[in-house]
Amino acid sequence: MQASGESVRIGDGGVAAALLGWYDVNARRLPWRALPGEPAPDPYRVWLSEVMLQQTTVAAVRAYYAKFLELWPTVDALAAAEDADVMAAWAGLGYYARARNLLACAREVARRGGFPRTEEGLRELPGLGAYTAAAVAAIAFGQRAVVVDANVERVVSRLFAIADPLPGGRTAIRAATDTITPDQRAGDFAQAMMDLGSSICTVKAPRCLLCPLADSCAARAAGTAEAYPVKAEKKAKPTRTGTAFWIEQDGAVFLVQREGKGMLGGMRALPDDGWSARTDGHATPPVPGEWRPAGVVRHGFTHFDLELQLMLCGSADCASLPPGEFWPVDTVEAAGLPTVFAKAARLALANR
Ligand code: ADE
Repeated sequence: MQASGESVRIGDGGVAAALLGWYDVNARRLPWRALPGEPAPDPYRVWLSEVMLQQTTVAAVRAYYAKFLELWPTVDALAAAEDADVMAAWAGLGYYARARNLLACAREVARRGGFPRTEEGLRELPGLGAYTAAAVAAIAFGQRAVVVDANVERVVSRLFAIADPLPGGRTAIRAATDTITPDQRAGDFAQAMMDLGSSICTVKAPRCLLCPLADSCAARAAGTAEAYPVKAEKKAKPTRTGTAFWIEQDGAVFLVQREGKGMLGGMRALPDDGWSARTDGHATPPVPGEWRPAGVVRHGFTHFDLELQLMLCGSADCASLPPGEFWPVDTVEAAGLPTVFAKAARLALANR
């Protein structure tokens, strides 16, 4: 960190002032966002966007955010929605537990007659974690809250040259973020950090010449910005295997609804073998018939990669099918299949 009279010093409010000055000119225009000086946005919109943006890019979220607001313009409307409709509208965004938690939370907020205004109050809502509570408190209610997402982690670990590897290093990063979070404009500050992280303090080749915090940045002074945040070595992801079954009759494909809380719980899907069995075309199909292998789809989940063998049926004996529904193949897009099963459906349609 430089100590010249001109540089912005950490801990004296200078970082926040420099960042907010930059944000006043450079804030991204995003559909869920109030620009500097505008009244705070509706907490429902802030909450919805923040849940969607966890683990998902702004580019991917835009269309889903617009669709959800069109279908359910208020938290009360979302609370009254059918579970299956919400799960289907979420299909493709991934991390489906978020959609189940979203509904549980909407129902509790509707029951209470509105969102709590404090971080502590928000934390009491079902499925609403530390990040979302801080983000909604700051952005929707203007409360001082320490908001740390992956962008903020990168900016702050560089600013303070915090070398403790993630995930353990998060404690030090949060404490450091606390020292620079202002009492006023905490929501703008949080979003400014996110914008700085995504446009300037990028993972690779950070654009330090354009950075409003460059003079305060310990990693820049040392010429080591790209080394942060330090990450603990990742364990190799295991590969799991499974088999999915495409049963078609009279232009309709047989779909099941997956079990409650497990992987992709509550989503519509092709019947499968539980993903622990053989990929050699010999997993037990749900009904007897003339089965043939149609290829393999691969999909990366957070903790494992899946190789899913797809089996097609020439003619099936459908008398003994498990609970499910036949869905017209022409409109299978609208069934809200999660991505791995959408990939399998694409493969089936190309091979039938
Ligand atoms: N990522 C998560 N929340 C965000 C927000 N409010 N603005 C921009 N990027 C974000």
